[in-house]
Amino acid sequence: MDRFVIQGGRRLEGTVRINGSKNASLPLMAAALLTDQPVTLRGVPDLADIGNMRRLLGELGVEIAGGPAGDGRAETLRVTDDSESHARYDIVRTMRASICVLGPLLAARGRARVSMPGGCAIGDRPVDLHLRGMEALGAEIELDGGDIIARAPGGRLRGDTIFLGGAFGSTVLGTANVMSAATLAEGTTVIESAACEPEIVDLARLLTAMGAKIEGAGSPRVTVHGVEKLGGADHAVLPDRIEAATYMCAAAITNGVLTLEDCPLDCLLSVTDRLEAVGVRVECVDGNADPLRCAVRVAADRVLKPIEVTTQPHPGFPTDVQAQLMALLCLADGNSVVTEKIFPERFLHVAELSRMGARLFRQGNTVVVSGVRTLKGAPVMASDLRASAGLVLAGLAAEGTTTVNRVYHLDRGYERMEERLAAVGAVIERAGESA
Ligand code: EPZ
Repeated sequence: MDRFVIQGGRRLEGTVRINGSKNASLPLMAAALLTDQPVTLRGVPDLADIGNMRRLLGELGVEIAGGPAGDGRAETLRVTDDSESHARYDIVRTMRASICVLGPLLAARGRARVSMPGGCAIGDRPVDLHLRGMEALGAEIELDGGDIIARAPGGRLRGDTIFLGGAFGSTVLGTANVMSAATLAEGTTVIESAACEPEIVDLARLLTAMGAKIEGAGSPRVTVHGVEKLGGADHAVLPDRIEAATYMCAAAITNGVLTLEDCPLDCLLSVTDRLEAVGVRVECVDGNADPLRCAVRVAADRVLKPIEVTTQPHPGFPTDVQAQLMALLCLADGNSVVTEKIFPERFLHVAELSRMGARLFRQGNTVVVSGVRTLKGAPVMASDLRASAGLVLAGLAAEGTTTVNRVYHLDRGYERMEERLAAVGAVIERAGESA
């Protein structure tokens, strides 16, 4: 297993181009199951999770031409065989987001067999709301041998009004599943307490381009008028707001200056609000030509101020940036309070940051971060995708050498992070596991 070896203390300076969003790309790719026409996606990132989704869709009869590493990063997906509708355990267990094929499969083929995704490092990750949503659309659901077996009586789902809030207010992939499935259902579907994440808006853009009739995407109430058939489309993937936020924190924690190109600043207002409270200046430098793809300059005050932050569904502060911000707050001048409301167990980075000299005090889903003057490099263990990113950021700022082990977690959501950081001044290399 690969690890990163980082010599800390270098200021980052230069330009980073933000890639297409992983969390947008996965449901966008699954949407290709809804039609027999070609769907072209531009800007799909070259990530492990994307590779897993390509493998899964291949088994579901989708041919994929081109690919993230190809020219223009365009890939064209087309269903050529709809006989197999089983998303197998050994793929789903490596990427629980595979659940986002459930809605499209059920809507397009009237049947689906999807392995129940297990939990992961940040929580047990139930899918009860996904199943409630499918049942509300008329599907018959049973569980057998760890698989969800779903069937649409008469081969077609039927629209209905669905409250998708559950205990947490909203579910991103649950909303993606229900919205996608409703596009081909008979009649109208109203999704109440839908997720408002930008990735849902991007999915609605693609579905609309394919001929779907959707109103209110990005708001808590989404209305879908079912149609008989969907066509193909050509869609540019929304840039990755979480990747952009991660590099903003990288500039700040190294007291550097980074320009981020293709930054979806309009999706990051809660992040820039908190960063500005810390003393990080984020300014658009291209006249906000396209607020979803603009150039921003990020620089921080030398003395970082402590803050309070609570993760919330969008437009609140994203849980996927919690670990990265915590790493930054370890060096703030005072005590910060970080509260995690989405995944209350999402603190695997706390013990590792403490190994680097951070002073962190956890009580349940809240961590008090007592700022220190310096972090000390140490060997640390990556656990989940974003915790790993937080450890890399801490390593960039720490005195001495930090080794981040098991960076395969990082490769799931960040494309060649070590190369992109090195290109703006970091001393970081990827090494194979020591013998
Ligand atoms: C998406 O996961 C993202 N993944 C996650 O990003 C992100 O952390 C999460 O949304 C929250 O923003 C992708 O988009 C691929 P949820 P998702 O359903 O949709 C509970 C990353 O690092 N819940 O919005 O699976 C759940 O336990 C990843 O890129 C139920 O109770 O998250 C959680 O507490 C990690 N029942 C809350 O809702 C359900 O049926 C929000 O989860 C579904 C969810």
